[in-house]
Amino acid sequence: MLPHPELEAAFLAALVASSNDAIITKSLDGVVTSWNDAATRIFGYQHDEMIDQSITKLIPETLRSEEDEILRRIRRGERVEHFDTVRRTKDGSEVHVSLTISPLVDAQGRIMGASKIARDISDRKRSEERQQLLVNELKHRVKNTLSTVRAIAGQTYDDPQFADLNAAFTHRIMALAASTDLLIKDDWNGVQLRDLVDSVLLPFHPNDDAIQITDGAKVELTPPQASSLALALNELATNATKYGALSQPGGYVLLGWKTSADSPEMMVLKWVERGGPEVHQPQRSGFGTKILTFALKHELNADTELKYAPGGLEFSMRF
Ligand SMILES: Nc1ncnc2c1ncn2[C@@H]1O[C@H](COP(=O)(O)OP(=O)(O)OP(=O)(O)O)[C@@H](O)[C@H]1O
Ligand SMILES: [Mg+2]
Repeated sequence: MLPHPELEAAFLAALVASSNDAIITKSLDGVVTSWNDAATRIFGYQHDEMIDQSITKLIPETLRSEEDEILRRIRRGERVEHFDTVRRTKDGSEVHVSLTISPLVDAQGRIMGASKIARDISDRKRSEERQQLLVNELKHRVKNTLSTVRAIAGQTYDDPQFADLNAAFTHRIMALAASTDLLIKDDWNGVQLRDLVDSVLLPFHPNDDAIQITDGAKVELTPPQASSLALALNELATNATKYGALSQPGGYVLLGWKTSADSPEMMVLKWVERGGPEVHQPQRSGFGTKILTFALKHELNADTELKYAPGGLEFSMRF
């Protein structure tokens, strides 16, 4: 606390004068009663051009109703905080500002007017717009790059002897594209596991019972999780169609995921095949095994288990 009221008033006046933010006071009917240097810098009007004038001079016509609403709230004694809007400067240009408006109260507690702090946020707005532009461009490029890679592979493996290779490659790129599409939809924030499952497995649904989702807790995947899981699901479904339960009528897959019983921050996902041909420990391993074991471990730090049980392949991962 400062010792003298005069000193306190001088201190406050100095603060207002040196502020980088516009500090303006106005009456309850919107007439300007004080105007600091920063207000001149931001809005272009000198002190004398604004005192006793209506604050609406600064408000673009289309936003006039904002001021009515602000004054209504001030009369009720409410504060308006960090309200991002646009104001008009003396030369007619627009400036993005963040407003904080508080009621001014006299010694008897009556509301006499409002103080308004306006921060110029044009730079922030400009960089936000630039960032959005970049994000949109990147989204577009990522999608295009995947289509280009797919087309190059199609041309490179044009010969019928490479038909299987070409198909396998195309499916892998499609799985990656499915996760990319979902990520793009939500601005690269994340993907619901259920949406990813539906999207990646869509081409493998020979009938409605072929891949049955058992449990399906709501899980949001990070971008790297989404890409790795998309590839893994594609390998599981491709193998099931080639060698496992989906290679013959009556075979089916049970797919489910839930939080781990022993550590609730972890998820457990299980893929279990039933009703297919008898399964034996394989003699060879290919790309599928690499994804389902090393890649998931490496990319997601997941514990995985791949069991070639006679009754059907069982895969589980904890991540
Ligand atoms: N669901 C399944 N049911 C029965 N056997 C399977 C199943 N998935 C894989 N296998 C066996 O395991 C082997 C290895 O699978 P993996 O996916 O690693 O390689 P691939 O499918 O042969 O070739 P790639 O995945 O490189 O195209 C397969 O060749 C097959 O014999
Ligand atoms: Mg495979």
